[in-house]
Amino acid sequence: MEQLIDKFGRKINYIRISVTDRCNFRCIYCMPKNGVDWKPMENLLTYEDMAFFLKVAARLGIEKVKLTGGEPLVRKHLDNLISMIKEIDGIKEVSLTTNGTMLPIYAKRLKNAGLDRITVSLDTLSKEKFKKITRMGELDDVLKGIEAIDDVGFKKTKINTVVMKTINDSEITDLIDFAHSRRYDIRFIELMPTDLIPDWQKYFISIKQIKDIIKKRFDIEKTDKKTNGPSVYYKLESGYVGFITPLSKAFCAACNRIRLSSEGEIIACLGHNLKVDVKNAIKNRNEETTEKLIKYSVEIKPKEHAMLNESIHSSMSAIGG
Ligand code: 5AD
Ligand code: SF4
Repeated sequence: MEQLIDKFGRKINYIRISVTDRCNFRCIYCMPKNGVDWKPMENLLTYEDMAFFLKVAARLGIEKVKLTGGEPLVRKHLDNLISMIKEIDGIKEVSLTTNGTMLPIYAKRLKNAGLDRITVSLDTLSKEKFKKITRMGELDDVLKGIEAIDDVGFKKTKINTVVMKTINDSEITDLIDFAHSRRYDIRFIELMPTDLIPDWQKYFISIKQIKDIIKKRFDIEKTDKKTNGPSVYYKLESGYVGFITPLSKAFCAACNRIRLSSEGEIIACLGHNLKVDVKNAIKNRNEETTEKLIKYSVEIKPKEHAMLNESIHSSMSAIGG
């Protein structure tokens, strides 16, 4: 089997697929308050298109798939896509990142379809703050979603928390307690600058500062635990805490991923506006061209992001973080 390797020797074996740009929340760091420009539905890849693409990608060494959004579960019958992906030779793991609200409805179906793991985004345990951050979400819906995935037997669940100064930085240790009481890992993510938050520096709190807050209450010990992502994990008595520093360049050195947008573009790096359009090749079921375009996107994958000095994708929403 082939293995995608980029110019800098990074093995690319992981893909994040955004199945929709839509979401039932409008998180302050991710989406504008009003007037989101949704992509027209007819432009989206179908599940069959995505499965075709992945079949080709798997032959090139892609082994792990993360389904993201927007909110992936607002697209109907996502379990059908998961069943299709689980049939593909070479794909070893399929996971999902979700805001959790639809899990009470879908948990069982996702489990039956063979989904391996779920990551739930959760920034706060306060109902009021939850409304403020998501602009339209109810914390209880997410908590019910979390119950539902535990009930149907999902393991290795993770919580992802974007930490923002003055908004949820006072809840860091509460969120750790919450995650560890359910045997989940929790990962803290630095806020990434987008043009949605022009005053992002006001809310930015570094991983170093977050660690200092944690150290006041917990003993933490660095580990070499590795997952698919760029997280660095620390062990606490009660469980693991991961840290994700999108702005640090070390993050890029360990990058093993490409992304596929819901409209059929390969995005080789989150921090550059480089897109390779594979839609036609996919729609025509042209394996040769699809393969060429995947290889090309890995070839042009930049060494590191340019998030601080290039205007980047205005919102993470369409590319799933
Ligand atoms: N900064 C950090 N993380 C972000 N996400 C979206 N926008 C941002 C941002 N500006 C990530 C979060 C969220 C997921 C859907 O995408 O982890 O939970
Ligand atoms: Fe939706 Fe996640 Fe973006 Fe919030 S961060 S608006 S839940 S996609």
